[in-house]
Amino acid sequence: MSSYENILFEKKNQLAYVAINRPTKLNALNRAVMRELDDVFAKISEDEEVRAVILTGAGEKAFVAGADVGELATQSSVEGKEFSLWGQRILNRIETLGKPVIAAINGYALGGGCELAMACTLRIASENARLGQPEVKLGIMAGYGGTQRLPRLVGKGMAMQLLLTGEQISGTEAYLIGLVNKVVPYAELIPTAEKVAQAMIANAPLALKYSMEAVNRGLEGTQEDGLFLEATLFGLCCTTDDKKEGTQAFLEKRPAQFKGK
Ligand code: COA
Repeated sequence: MSSYENILFEKKNQLAYVAINRPTKLNALNRAVMRELDDVFAKISEDEEVRAVILTGAGEKAFVAGADVGELATQSSVEGKEFSLWGQRILNRIETLGKPVIAAINGYALGGGCELAMACTLRIASENARLGQPEVKLGIMAGYGGTQRLPRLVGKGMAMQLLLTGEQISGTEAYLIGLVNKVVPYAELIPTAEKVAQAMIANAPLALKYSMEAVNRGLEGTQEDGLFLEATLFGLCCTTDDKKEGTQAFLEKRPAQFKGK
């Protein structure tokens, strides 16, 4: 079903499975991968059959080992800035997809790989995962949102430590600092991601969408503005058929049948 050269894409049980597929280069993000990621997430956002996404890396060694160092090596300052903005836009598309995206981190998630995982709604790591922002070791810095999303997830102190030492941490360490939501044995990674995705999509689609929007936008402004946004989106939920169905189903002691309307 995949018509891409650098990613694998399939749909099953209302889930889209996207795997970055350059295993011989540890799934490093070159321009071709980024273009295809942008395209597949644009399609997923329009696809009503897909309720959530599982994003992973092909092979057993890497989620994504970073932006492609070969491409980075030849960039001028102007190209570097455009490259960073372009990547940020693609990761923003993932963060604001309106459907949950679960990063299933199956190995190295370094540099742009860690940043890609952080743009996802949540992260599940296998026990062999290695996460980090090693850009400073190459004389550059995080450019796909790492300096912004990492402190929001783990706090300023831990973010500074990771961004400035360039050290790698294990899945378990990442779990302890809140960088990943769960850490599981390798064989249980995709089944766990599927379980979490299914638990989410059993709920009302618009309620999920507006919850993510309230969190994402709310974190960017003041708490007062965030609370107002929450109240407005809460009000919007109250106008939906799914709210009528959800509350009625509870009162009638039966499972709700949500329609996303
Ligand atoms: N960009 C381009 N190629 C990459 C890459 C990257 N970010 N990460 C790995 N690769 C390539 C290697 O060059 C190698 O290619 P080759 O077989 O053609 O020589 C292949 O993937 C396998 O990597 P290798 O380094 O041999 O594996 P390893 O197990 O010894 O080490 C890492 C794994 C992840 C520790 C190491 O590959 C690494 O440090 N990668 C770069 C990480 C990084 O700095 N990312 C941030 C970039 S901004």
